[in-house]
Amino acid sequence: MRFSRISVRLSKKNSSNLSYEKEKGAGISEKQPIELKTVSEIRLMKEVAQAVPKILKKLQESLKPGISTKHLDDLAFKEIDRMGMKPAFLGYRGYPSSTCISINNELVHGIPKADRIIKEGDLVSIDIGVFHHGFYGDAAITCGVGEISAEAKRLIEITRQALDKAIEKVRPDNRLGDVSWAIQSFVEKSGYSVVRDYVGHGIGRKLHEDPQIPNFGEANTGIRLMPGMVLAIEPMVNAGDWKVKTLDDGWTVVTSDGRLCAHFEHMVAITEKGCEVLTRI
Ligand code: MF3
Ligand code: CO
Repeated sequence: MRFSRISVRLSKKNSSNLSYEKEKGAGISEKQPIELKTVSEIRLMKEVAQAVPKILKKLQESLKPGISTKHLDDLAFKEIDRMGMKPAFLGYRGYPSSTCISINNELVHGIPKADRIIKEGDLVSIDIGVFHHGFYGDAAITCGVGEISAEAKRLIEITRQALDKAIEKVRPDNRLGDVSWAIQSFVEKSGYSVVRDYVGHGIGRKLHEDPQIPNFGEANTGIRLMPGMVLAIEPMVNAGDWKVKTLDDGWTVVTSDGRLCAHFEHMVAITEKGCEVLTRI
């Protein structure tokens, strides 16, 4: 989701029920709760979330040179429908498809098209959202088509590992900044950059809930993580500069320098003991 530059923190007055107010600097003092989920809601969310990696796997298996991104989207729509679920992205703020398929220098929100043909060597990010039983599921992967360059392979691997590093920090009493910093520090140490304009998000009965989860930040800052939070963590990594822009279609986000980028996303529930990745199969 797009980053809105209004930061949030737990309100001292009201931290007991998880309200927090927008940072004073923004001139707003509006309380907004983070929706905590019960253990049984998380169980249900997992059931819904598990559909996403299954569909991603199907799409990954059919990914080959010569097919169109629309073909992949149709396949995803059919699978979502077969599972009795609804595509979460279709119609979201007017988005026209069930998936986002973003190739090479396209980072996120690529709109599937019949005339967009996948080629050998492409880096393809597939992002899928579902809605079922009142809850959203959302996850993304980036994969190479056939033989890809060593640089592309490394970019995929670093982005995937950045998500693992982030997940390692997800446990009660750690802070959101620990998660963000785990991503940023690992990515920058690897010689790549993290996108600033798009961030991860809370997820539940809405696709995008608070908190926003930047892929950059400072350890030991931000809200404290608590059991019942469900986070969609999505590192977006550029091989070159972190700057991105949106194409004239109003959706497709591309790197400003035209270089490669990668994106992975998992939903992670915070439990008493640590966390559970809801979108892993
Ligand atoms: N995973 C993306 C996000 O959380 C997908 C949103 S696509 C949209 O922002 F079409 F729904 F916007
Ligand atoms: Co998301």
